[in-house]
Amino acid sequence: MLKKIVTIHFFILCLFAGQINAQTQITVLANKPSAEIQPTMWGIFFEDINFGADGGLYAELVKNRSFKFPNPLMGWQVPFRDSVYVINEQVDGQEHRFLRLKTLQSEKLNFIQNQGFRGMGIHAGEEYRLEVNARIAEGKDISLQAELLDSEGKQLASAKISDLSKDWNKSMLVLKAQETCENANLKITLAGNGTVDFDYVSLFPVKTFKNRENGMRSDLANLLAGLKPGFVRFPGGCVVEGYHLSLRYQWKKTVGDVEDRELIINRWNTEFMHRYTPDYFQSFGLGFFEYFVLAEDLGAEPLPILNCGMACQYNSGELEQLDEMDPYIQDALDLIEFANGDATTKWGKLRIEMGHAEPFNLKFLGIGNEQWGEQYLERYDLIAEKVHAKYPEVKLISGSGPSAEGDRFEYLWKELKGRTADLVDEHYYKSPDWFFSNARRYDNYDRNGLKVFAGEYASHTGVNNDEPTSNNNWLSALSEAAFMTGLERNADVVNMASYAPLFAHVDAWQWRPDLIWFDNLKAVATPNYYVQQMYSTHRGTHVLPVTANGDVLAGQDSLYSSASVDKNTGHIFMKLVNASSQSKEVSIDFKGLKTATKDVALTELFDNDLMKFNTIEQAGNVVPQEGKATMKGTRLVLELKPRSFILVDVTGKK
Ligand code: AHR
Repeated sequence: MLKKIVTIHFFILCLFAGQINAQTQITVLANKPSAEIQPTMWGIFFEDINFGADGGLYAELVKNRSFKFPNPLMGWQVPFRDSVYVINEQVDGQEHRFLRLKTLQSEKLNFIQNQGFRGMGIHAGEEYRLEVNARIAEGKDISLQAELLDSEGKQLASAKISDLSKDWNKSMLVLKAQETCENANLKITLAGNGTVDFDYVSLFPVKTFKNRENGMRSDLANLLAGLKPGFVRFPGGCVVEGYHLSLRYQWKKTVGDVEDRELIINRWNTEFMHRYTPDYFQSFGLGFFEYFVLAEDLGAEPLPILNCGMACQYNSGELEQLDEMDPYIQDALDLIEFANGDATTKWGKLRIEMGHAEPFNLKFLGIGNEQWGEQYLERYDLIAEKVHAKYPEVKLISGSGPSAEGDRFEYLWKELKGRTADLVDEHYYKSPDWFFSNARRYDNYDRNGLKVFAGEYASHTGVNNDEPTSNNNWLSALSEAAFMTGLERNADVVNMASYAPLFAHVDAWQWRPDLIWFDNLKAVATPNYYVQQMYSTHRGTHVLPVTANGDVLAGQDSLYSSASVDKNTGHIFMKLVNASSQSKEVSIDFKGLKTATKDVALTELFDNDLMKFNTIEQAGNVVPQEGKATMKGTRLVLELKPRSFILVDVTGKK
C-alpha cells in the first residue's frame, strides 16, 4: 500500500515537474508596438531561370515563335527540309527573318510543327488564341489548317486560316481543346499549291492572369497573388549581369511591340553543364512593361534592377570604362521616365502608347546585382549621383556582393555608409544550420544606418543543387521560418525580403531549391512557399516585442518567435517555431492586450519527417492546417508540435 502511495506521489510530482520544466513562459508586449513594418516587407524575386518566364509564367506556348533563335528551326519540326527555307532580309536597315514553306507533291509533308517548351500544356474546354503573321509568296487560294495534337498525333483541336494574302497579314483564331494534354504540339498544314512565308506564330491561352493579352499563366500568377507580395523584384538575378556586357539585360530592348523585341541567349542555358538547357533563350515577351503591369496586378511595388556596367564577375567580369558609362546612366534615368513620366516625355509616351496611361509610380531602383569591389562602387556612384539629382524621391538599392559575410561583403557595407544608397541588397544561400543560428543576424545592425533588402535567400539542404536532398524539403522551410522571426523582429532595419529563385519547371530547371514548381499543366507550392505566405499575409504594421526570460526568443530550447500588430485592424500575429523533435508547451502572456474575442486562430505547418517535400503528384504533403485555441485572460497556452511553425492570430482591439 505504502509503495502504491509513493508511486502515485512520484507520478504526480513527475507530472508537475515535467510541466514546470517543459513550459516556456513567453511575453508579448501587446500594448507596446515598436518598429514600423514596411508594406514592402515581404516580396517576391523574379528571374527568368528554370524556365521561369519563357516556358513558365509567360503564357506563350510556342517556342521560338519568330524563328529568331540562333538555330532558326529550334522548337520546330519540319518533315522535309526541301520544302522549308529560312530567309533573312533587310527591312529599313533591320534584319528580318522569316520561314518559307513550299507545297510538295505529297500533301502530308506540307507542314510545320512546334513542340512548345517541353510540350504544350493544354486543358480540356479551354480556348487558345493562335496568331499567325504570314503572307502568300506564291500561288493563290491557299489556306492553313491549325491543329493541336497530342504526342501520338491525336487531334485535340483544329481550325482553318483562310484570310491569307500576298501582303504580310496577321490572322487570328481560337482553338478550343477537347482534351487535356501535358505534351501537346501545334501543327500548321498548308492546303493548296504554292508558298507561304511565316514571320510569327504565337499561341496563348485565352484565359490568362487578369485576362491580359500577352499575359501570364493564371495558375502560376495566382500563386504569386496568394503571397500578397509587397514588391516584385525583376528581372533577376544574374540575368541582369550577363556573361558578357553584350548579353546583359537591357530593358529598352524589352519594351514596344513584342514581335520586334530582340532575343538573346538566356545565361542559364549554359551556366551549369550538369543542367545544360540548350533551348533556353529570352524572348522578352515578358519585358519591363509586362513586369510593371504584373506588379500592379499583384498590388506590389515594382522593383527593377539594372546593370551597372559590369558583367557577372563569376563569368567574364567584363567592365564598362568609366568614361563610357553614359548609356547605363541614361538607362536608369529613362526607366524612371518610362515608369512615371507623362505624355510629354519620350519614354512616358511609349508607356502610354503601350496601353498604360497612368504612371507605374516607381519608387525603388536597384543598381547592379551581385557585384563587388571598388569597380562596383565607382560605377554605382556615377549612376546614383545622376539618379538622385533628378529623382531624389526614388530609393536606390545597392548590392553587397554574392555572400552574406566575408571581405567583399564587409568592404561594401563599410564603403556604402555615407553614400547615396537607401537599401543594401544582401544575398544568402546557406545551410539550414546557418538559418537557424542566424535568427539574431540583424539584432545588432546599426538602427540609424542603411536599410537592408534581403533580396535573395534560401536554405539549401544539399551542397550541390543536383543532389537528391537539395529539394524544397521541410527542413529548409522550417529553418527559413525560424530565421524570418529575426527579419520581422528587426523590421526597423530590414525593410524588404524575398526568397529566391521563385519558379522552376520540373523538366527544365537549372537551380534548386525554388519557391514554386510546375509542369506544363499544374503547379505546386513548396513548404517554403507556405512559410513565406504565413508571414506575408500576416504582416502587421508594427513589431511587438517578444521575450522569454528577458531575452528575445531566437533559438533557446529550439524555439523562435516574433510578433506584429496590425494597427488598422487590431489583429496580433505571432509566429512560433519549434525546431526540436519534441513537442513543447508554451505559455504566452499578451501583456496589455484588450481582446475582442477569446478565440484565437491558428495556422500550423509541421511534419516529423524533415526530408518531406511537396510534388505535383503529392502537393499536400506539407501544407498549413487551420486550428483554434482559447485565451484565458491575456494568456494563451499552446502545445507546439515537434518540428512545427505556427501562426497565432489574436483578434485584439484597435
Ligand atoms: O537566384 C539564383 C541566382 O543566385 C541569382 O541569379 C543570382 O543573383 C544569385 O547568385
